[in-house]
Amino acid sequence: MQYVHTIDGPLILGIESSCDETAAAVVRGGAQALSNVVASQMSLHANYGGVVPELASREHLRNVVPVVREALGRAGVSFADLDAIAVTEGPGLAGALLVGITYAKALAFALGKPLIAVNHLEGHIHAVLLEARASAGAPMQLPLLALVVSGGHTHLYLAEHTAGEAGAAPWRYRNVGRTVDDAAGEAYDKVAKLLGLGYPGGPWIDALARLGNPRAVPFHFAPIRTRDASHGKAPRTAAGASSTSLDFSFSGIKTAVLRYTQTHPELAEGIAARRRALTAQPGLKPASDEAATLCDAQTLDLIASFQHAVVGNLLRQTFAAAERFGAHGIVVSGGVAANSELRRRFHAEADRRGLPIAFPSLALSTDNAAMIAAAAWPKFVAGEFAPPALGATPQLRLG
Ligand code: KG4
Ligand code: ZN
Repeated sequence: MQYVHTIDGPLILGIESSCDETAAAVVRGGAQALSNVVASQMSLHANYGGVVPELASREHLRNVVPVVREALGRAGVSFADLDAIAVTEGPGLAGALLVGITYAKALAFALGKPLIAVNHLEGHIHAVLLEARASAGAPMQLPLLALVVSGGHTHLYLAEHTAGEAGAAPWRYRNVGRTVDDAAGEAYDKVAKLLGLGYPGGPWIDALARLGNPRAVPFHFAPIRTRDASHGKAPRTAAGASSTSLDFSFSGIKTAVLRYTQTHPELAEGIAARRRALTAQPGLKPASDEAATLCDAQTLDLIASFQHAVVGNLLRQTFAAAERFGAHGIVVSGGVAANSELRRRFHAEADRRGLPIAFPSLALSTDNAAMIAAAAWPKFVAGEFAPPALGATPQLRLG
């Protein structure tokens, strides 16, 4: 069924505080972002080499009121104009989530407006749909197949309406595939580190892979025998079907790259030289000529072959899932969705099959609240509101 958007739909304030970004946005009808404000704590946590939960909560507390006020101001609306307040319920850091949830609950109660709880991963899917709805292109239709691929996730979801009801039905997500070990972005980061490249590894491998031969080193993905998590015995496919698994595994290719470097000792000198160069110039850009000259042809071929294999695997599993479940379109989100080879090959395959496909713009690919307000829209239409006792669910799953 067609997913129609109306730009005079409900006005929803979204609030996001699951990790190190305090964000608020006002979105109309799930399609029109009137504002999208993000206060990032990245520089604060960079001193510690990762997100410090206590510091994150304290920063959210400091930021949430001014960020919400700015979101309303930029949208040119007042609290009274809002139809609902949406907030990230999980997954994320417990203390950080609680700041947004407590504030959203107080606001909803004080204003007498409904509160809507949103799964952060569902938000990432709707970041793409928000832009697809707002653009003049063909609307995306349910069921949709979503690939969420980042440093922490490699998941396939089928997004569909709950049985039987069309427009006013809330969306339902089915997790039809997931990584059984590393996430794809994690494999990029680990392989980049192994080869003496910078962090995060994705942009480095993306830039350098263009200079190598993707067929130089044949990497293979063995079929996955997924086991049921609760019993650890019976072979399982994530979809519950008897056919080939739609799950992913990226630890094997990471080990294969390691083994390749061990059996090709001539690569060691280059790896050490790149590590030295990056220590001396931490600001070196992946796409710079200098970064390219730090790599010999054999290393570039290895990088290109690794990426070609990873993207090929993501592509095969995603399109196999789309076909198996009769998806009417594909949505790709998460940090790895920025990869240029992935975008090119996914677009080409989708065109070949006549399937609409959508990726997020850079502004909406990182954590933001516009995606939370957009994901809340079908819930608002369906009257799916959160109870006043809503709490944080740090391990919340989707589907
Ligand atoms: O979604 P994200 O920003 O953060 C979380 O993981 O939550 O994703 C970061 C991941 C990192 O592993 C990074 O190496 C990868 O996305 N990444 C890329 C590219 N840009 C970022 N991977 C491949 N190609 C890229 N161009
Ligand atoms: Zn996120």
